[in-house]
Amino acid sequence: MQEKIKKIINKKNKSKIICLTAYSKNVAEAIDPFTDIVLIGDSLGSVLYNYNTTRNVTLHTMIEHSKSARQGIKKSLMVVDMPYKTYKNKNVALRNAKKIIKQTKCDAVKLEGGSSISNVIEHLVKNKIPVMGHLGILPQSVKEKFKIKGKEKRERKKILNDAKLLQKKGVFSIVLECVEKTLSKEITKILKIPTIGIGSSQYCDGQVLVIDDLIGLNETKIKFVKKFGNIKKNISEAACKFKKDVLSKKYPTKKHSY
Ligand code: KIV
Repeated sequence: MQEKIKKIINKKNKSKIICLTAYSKNVAEAIDPFTDIVLIGDSLGSVLYNYNTTRNVTLHTMIEHSKSARQGIKKSLMVVDMPYKTYKNKNVALRNAKKIIKQTKCDAVKLEGGSSISNVIEHLVKNKIPVMGHLGILPQSVKEKFKIKGKEKRERKKILNDAKLLQKKGVFSIVLECVEKTLSKEITKILKIPTIGIGSSQYCDGQVLVIDDLIGLNETKIKFVKKFGNIKKNISEAACKFKKDVLSKKYPTKKHSY
């Protein structure tokens, strides 16, 4: 097992795991000193391209953004989402996972789903592809956004069983998206591998957020998002200053000319 992955697993019950998404070099470079994992999430479909579903994200798009982000990541574990339909069976999945790893030099891939893709995960792991799981809300499969998962008994049991199954199949960590808090607490307690929560309470071993939400570049009113910055405002202010200086001929000056 890769050293970086061992380190992530060893953090369980010792220190929280910090994970953020990045889709480009400059952002990855800015967050890398503070993250354990940088995820090139297919959330880039909605965040950057304004798609109403991550199903529209292609392998090519994921690879190009991951290649860019790779250049900014020095110390964190780099995980790349496998987009919709790129892991529909174990052979397709292996071919695409190898392509992603070869072209982006990432450390691991992430796949959404439980028992329905457990054979795919098992095949990837057997072929030495490090895999991160993803349970709860599965954006590639559902239309309704951010509806809490695991409130009802049957669904609860299914998510818990899926988590155990994914661990057995060899994933090194599982993202829990919008999982009810007592369930994410139970899963986190039962599993030996870490859980990374998004909208799944403080009980997870780590937390992940979409970077554009965190820095205030994306207008969002999602309950679980805390805005830690206001980059959109900063960009507007800079653009406004640029406009004023150009109109008033304060910019460019001799200093800025060749
Ligand atoms: O695509 C993504 O960014 C994700 C995170 C929200 C976990 O899967």
